[in-house]
Amino acid sequence: MRTYKAVQVTKPGTLELVEKPIAEPGAGQVRIRVEACGICHTDAATVNGAYPGLTLPRVPGHEVVGCIEALGSGVSKWKIGQRVGVGLIAGEDGVCESCRRGDAVNCQNPVVSGVTVDGGYAEVMIAEARGLSSIPDEINSADAAPLLCAGVTTYNALRNAGLRGGDLVAVQGIGGLGHLGVHYARKMGFRTVAIGRGREKEKLAKDLGAHLYLDTSADDAAAALQRFGGARAILATATSGAAMRPLVSGLSARGKFIVVGVPEDPISLNAFPLVFGGRSIYGTLTGTPIESEDTLAFSVLENVRPMIETFPLEQAVDAYARMMQGKARFRVVLTM
Ligand SMILES: NC(=O)c1ccc[n+]([C@@H]2O[C@H](COP(=O)([O-])OP(=O)(O)OC[C@H]3O[C@@H](n4cnc5c(N)ncnc54)[C@H](OP(=O)(O)O)[C@@H]3O)[C@@H](O)[C@H]2O)c1
Ligand SMILES: [Zn+2]
Ligand SMILES: [Zn+2]
Repeated sequence: MRTYKAVQVTKPGTLELVEKPIAEPGAGQVRIRVEACGICHTDAATVNGAYPGLTLPRVPGHEVVGCIEALGSGVSKWKIGQRVGVGLIAGEDGVCESCRRGDAVNCQNPVVSGVTVDGGYAEVMIAEARGLSSIPDEINSADAAPLLCAGVTTYNALRNAGLRGGDLVAVQGIGGLGHLGVHYARKMGFRTVAIGRGREKEKLAKDLGAHLYLDTSADDAAAALQRFGGARAILATATSGAAMRPLVSGLSARGKFIVVGVPEDPISLNAFPLVFGGRSIYGTLTGTPIESEDTLAFSVLENVRPMIETFPLEQAVDAYARMMQGKARFRVVLTM
């Protein structure tokens, strides 16, 4: 029996290296020889067992890039040897109300990489063909991996916010998502503000394209944004609802507070800035496989690459801990 190495969550809080038997892809599936997988903060919901619908043991990982090595029956679009990516929402059911309305990313019964099926902390992954994105030759696998979640999430959030060139756009939380958010905001032509806590990331944020850096430990960031007329959008990526709340007052009239971070604590809001000025707050979930291809294409066009640190698969426990401790600059990527 042929086997492959994977790192799985056996019980909540425990990641361990295991050998698993190689399976054949079923109808509509492919088997991927994984080359790289980013470690997203959402993986914590697999590791700690909290993701709705999760069953253990489970291999986390939804920023997966590799080459197809086997095709299941009925797969026509993809070829053996082709380099592909897999993100979080990696197969819609096609029959729920959201799907029937053409909103596949909000499918009510999706295949979720690293949650309902094994993900990419592994040498091999079985994926749904309809969940694949094609990877352009210009981007290497380790750089492409974070674009399959952190990239598409921030790119989609910004491009779908009805913004116009020159608008003041702030990105809160300069981590895996946030550093790409800053980069995309700048490349999309926005006046870009990075919001972090402490000054440590100021230089890196400016290197990524931020025109201005606000340090919430020293500045009243909302007041600072208002001095520039208010932000047309704030892309909130931090893992703290308490840190998000005061920023809503930094929006311009009609400004949008776009929540992509999923903190454990609530975002408690004052109604005044929402009502007086018609501000809004809403969430957005990653993107579809074709939107990941858009993200990759834009990244090639405008030379956006994630800032990454690579670790071998065998060191996944240390790599995951580095992300959780906020030490990654800015995305840890496992390489196989
Ligand atoms: N909407 C989606 O589809 C989607 C997709 C992917 C991820 N997510 C979610 O997005 C969030 C970020 O993911 P990530 O991979 O970018 O995580 P990450 O790399 O760990 O970055 C987290 C960021 O949050 C900041 N932060 C943490 N605690 C904070 C606090 N108390 N005050 C201010 N800032 C704080 C960190 O800042 P410091 O560096 O100062 O600690 C860091 O910049 C997670 O909740 C994740 O689950 C959502
Ligand atoms: Zn993710
Ligand atoms: Zn559906």
